[in-house]
Amino acid sequence: MKFELRVNGRQFQVDVDPDTPLLWVLRDHLQLTGTKFGCGKGLCGSCTVHLDRRAARACVTPVSAVAESEITTIEGLASRDGSEVQDAWVAEQAPQCGYCQPGMIMATAALLDRHAAPSDEEIDKSITNLCRCGSYPRIRRAIHRAAQARGGAGGGTTRRSEESEEEEGTKRGDA
Ligand code: FES
Ligand code: FES
Repeated sequence: MKFELRVNGRQFQVDVDPDTPLLWVLRDHLQLTGTKFGCGKGLCGSCTVHLDRRAARACVTPVSAVAESEITTIEGLASRDGSEVQDAWVAEQAPQCGYCQPGMIMATAALLDRHAAPSDEEIDKSITNLCRCGSYPRIRRAIHRAAQARGGAGGGTTRRSEESEEEEGTKRGDA
């Protein structure tokens, strides 16, 4: 079945089964391989994209559900919103292996659309993506940095010492 998709501001046509997950359409048909496959069950968040600026997990989103949506992937985020989030990621050296990071960045951009200056608690509640390397403390710092770069006040931060944050990140990564 043919579907018209709007991805990163461009129009595409694909001919696929309606149940095909958006993740595979992006990766295999449109060659947008920045969106990663992790669990395939909507749990890890490595496949996070935006549908009409809201974070969505592409592995459990059938292509038939998104024909009317504005789809944004990691490849199109900076041209749509500016590069503050990616710049903050670089400045805080957030990635370790990097596999989870496109999804983390997309989840962050969606969070900052709703909360200009999220607190640590709001970050932990909203960003449910998993990182096997345990880079959560660096990600949290990068989110605060991106919020400030976007003009958020940066309030509500309950930042603990770098040492204790890194320790916590290791524990979460080991979970
Ligand atoms: S691959 Fe989609 S949530 Fe894990
Ligand atoms: S940086 Fe390796 S899984 Fe997150």
